[in-house]
Amino acid sequence: MGTALITGAGSGLGKEFARILAAEGNNLVLVARNEERLNAIARETQKADNVRVEVLPADLTKPDDRERVVRRLRSRENPVTLLINNAGMGLGQDFVGGSRRRETEALNVMVTAVLVLTHAAVNEMVKRGRGSIINVASISSMTVQGTYSAHKAWVKVFTEGLAADLKGTGVRVTAVLPGLMHTDFHRRAKVDATQWKEWMFLDLRRVAESALNAARRGRVLAVPSPIYKVAYGALKFSPRVLVRKIAGPKMSGRGR
Ligand SMILES: NC(=O)c1ccc[n+]([C@@H]2O[C@H](COP(=O)([O-])OP(=O)(O)OC[C@H]3O[C@@H](n4cnc5c(N)ncnc54)[C@H](OP(=O)(O)O)[C@@H]3O)[C@@H](O)[C@H]2O)c1
Repeated sequence: MGTALITGAGSGLGKEFARILAAEGNNLVLVARNEERLNAIARETQKADNVRVEVLPADLTKPDDRERVVRRLRSRENPVTLLINNAGMGLGQDFVGGSRRRETEALNVMVTAVLVLTHAAVNEMVKRGRGSIINVASISSMTVQGTYSAHKAWVKVFTEGLAADLKGTGVRVTAVLPGLMHTDFHRRAKVDATQWKEWMFLDLRRVAESALNAARRGRVLAVPSPIYKVAYGALKFSPRVLVRKIAGPKMSGRGR
């Protein structure tokens, strides 16, 4: 048992990670902006499982807030043994004509925060000779759906490079590439999720369990569910010219 720090723990996949890890007896540090929602999850997980839960409200677009999370990751008291970089969002806009501020916020949450928090965590973990990091990317990292795909591709390649660096240190890092999930993600990005077939949506618990199992086995990349494994293979081996044709911005479902 250890202590897991989860970003974006207030809803969706992050909340599911929190529930599973608490049920296993792990302590939690919950990070997101909405403190009320974090407190509700803290009450639920503490009551059910008698674990210690810390609520750390932070807006990961803001440098000062990221530094507060960094300080917790560096703390030797109840050291963080598992970091889950899960916070993320759909941009809900095209790059051309879209808000530059929104672009920068998305980059800060899905790239800068992942880099900064991983840097803090990994240095402590290497000193201790053990620890795990899970970075939530997306199957979109294999497509070309605007800057969201670019951010998730960065997360995937960053994780692969770091995994090579960490060989022999006792510290492991895993990138998870989920497909569609029913969470707040699409509503917040103003995308109508009913346009996709129900069978395309993954069960949240299975995605979280599959990510945790992959991390425990030391897998560097994890694609939960057989249908998305097929999609991953097809995207990986298709000529990029074809990927650009079929898996471009229109696939994000905006404006339908
Ligand atoms: N849903 C999908 O179909 C899908 C598919 C593939 C990958 N993913 C990825 O899965 C991860 C989890 O997303 P989800 O589907 O569970 O969506 P979600 O329900 O909208 O959860 C996103 C979480 O990120 C947090 N967050 C957003 N902006 C933040 C900020 N500035 N600072 C701190 N926390 C912030 C949100 O909390 P606050 O608003 O309270 O800050 C929330 O807890 C994301 O990385 C997403 O890109 C999702």
